[in-house]
Amino acid sequence: MRLPIIAGNWKMNATLKEAIDLVREMTERLDRIKGVEKVLCPPFISLATIKELITGSSIKLGAQNMHFEERGAYTGEISPSMLIGLCDFVILGHSERRHYFGESDEVVNKKVKAALRAGLKPILCVGERLEENEMGRTREVVTTQVKLALSGVSPPEELVIAYEPVWAIGTGRPSTPEQANDTIGIIRSAIAELYGEAIASEIRIQYGGSVTSGNIGGFMQQPEIDGALVGGASLKAEEFLSIVEQTAAIKKVR
Ligand code: 13P
Repeated sequence: MRLPIIAGNWKMNATLKEAIDLVREMTERLDRIKGVEKVLCPPFISLATIKELITGSSIKLGAQNMHFEERGAYTGEISPSMLIGLCDFVILGHSERRHYFGESDEVVNKKVKAALRAGLKPILCVGERLEENEMGRTREVVTTQVKLALSGVSPPEELVIAYEPVWAIGTGRPSTPEQANDTIGIIRSAIAELYGEAIASEIRIQYGGSVTSGNIGGFMQQPEIDGALVGGASLKAEEFLSIVEQTAAIKKVR
């Protein structure tokens, strides 16, 4: 059985004060929800403070990115070892990193290796663009992204994958649950080709892209989808709590 995982990717939102207020509003209720791994991914500058606020709870932290080098002249960057002790997870290869900051599959691969070396669990993001989707290239694009990101990586039990179709991110136009389930099945087959069926059946694969409390239920009914990577809706306490609560209820009865 795969433990469902809901992660909130706050992106470049929330000052330290806003972050503290949001976490205070959610912590008690979020902590009580069982059967779902709950991860908050605030901006780097809030990680240390939030870590203190959630200590002793079942809530975990993730970073939104990191550099693959351990140290050096990389102005503005954060290294894997700086995240150790603060975070369990790190989001890697998010489409916004790929498209706005030019991260290639090769860079994502280096980051995945660096994260695993540091004992951080990557949340590896993959997903096709609208034109690729319309040209029927979804299978090819996500399979290639997964294989390149994991090239030379030994069986990564700690890996989480997030399938985020680019056209669904921040658009209010999510994938259908069935479409997302099919593509996640394709991603799982790619993992099976790399590491065998046993590992593939254990790796958790989330859906991301315009997830809200209103549509999470449909996604969580799908057998291949093991949770969600939530952007905009993770910035509202009630929305995020409802998403996690519905996931717990649906995955429990399955
Ligand atoms: P939205 O939920 O705002 O569409 O963002 C999804 C996402 O990119 C999460 O990483």
